[in-house]
Amino acid sequence: MEIIKCKSYRDLSLQVGIDIEYQVSRNSKLVLGLATGSTPKGVYEYLKSSTVDFSEVRTFNLDEYVGLEPEFNSRLKGKKGYGVPKHKQSYYYFMNEHLFNEVKFKRSFFPGESQSDTYDSLIDACGGIDIQILGIGTNGHIAFNEPGTSRDSLTHVVDLTENTIKDNSRFFDSIDEVPKQATTMGIESIMRAKQIYLLANGKHKKDILEKACYGDITSDIPASYLQEHKNIKVLYCD
Ligand code: F6R
Repeated sequence: MEIIKCKSYRDLSLQVGIDIEYQVSRNSKLVLGLATGSTPKGVYEYLKSSTVDFSEVRTFNLDEYVGLEPEFNSRLKGKKGYGVPKHKQSYYYFMNEHLFNEVKFKRSFFPGESQSDTYDSLIDACGGIDIQILGIGTNGHIAFNEPGTSRDSLTHVVDLTENTIKDNSRFFDSIDEVPKQATTMGIESIMRAKQIYLLANGKHKKDILEKACYGDITSDIPASYLQEHKNIKVLYCD
């Protein structure tokens, strides 16, 4: 693991954004693995200002709520209205808001759009993920892989805990509307990426990041599995 302390969140976002831009300029068919959440927003902001052509790049998101997967109208392929987010809380909506509305990719995939066990085959068929962006949860989760997830997990459906469902209910009209499950790439799916950026912004991530990078490799801290990856950079800032 190469661990880099950044001067600021802007510095962190620029380092990753510039590298993605550079790699796309050398390989127009790059495959990107994307995360939602607050941490990668700065990278997406940077990519929105890029003059590099992303039109041959394909993207795979890490996770999506079950029932809120994007719908694609094949008759509108390449036109406005092709992909329709089902809900403002869907990760597809988030990605549209923060990246896809401005940066045009060849195609963006979300787990759960088709059977979850075909997502990994789809990634393989596209040549694998070249660069995977990851955030980290304060309990050490990566994507929706919570403590206890096994190292060899592929894309799968997870039941959300009662707590998460309750927490999320503030974003929905009623608790019945809150998704009870999500589809997530597994640890093995993530470890197959050729290069990984693990990003952490803020003092509240410091403890868990230290455990993930220097502690035992354990399913209690799913991010600790990343220590075994051959090409991973960890960028963090206060
Ligand atoms: C989202 C995802 C999550 C987040 C993590 C950190 O696609 O994979 O694991 O990366 O919860 O979230 P933020 O960046 O909001 O602190």
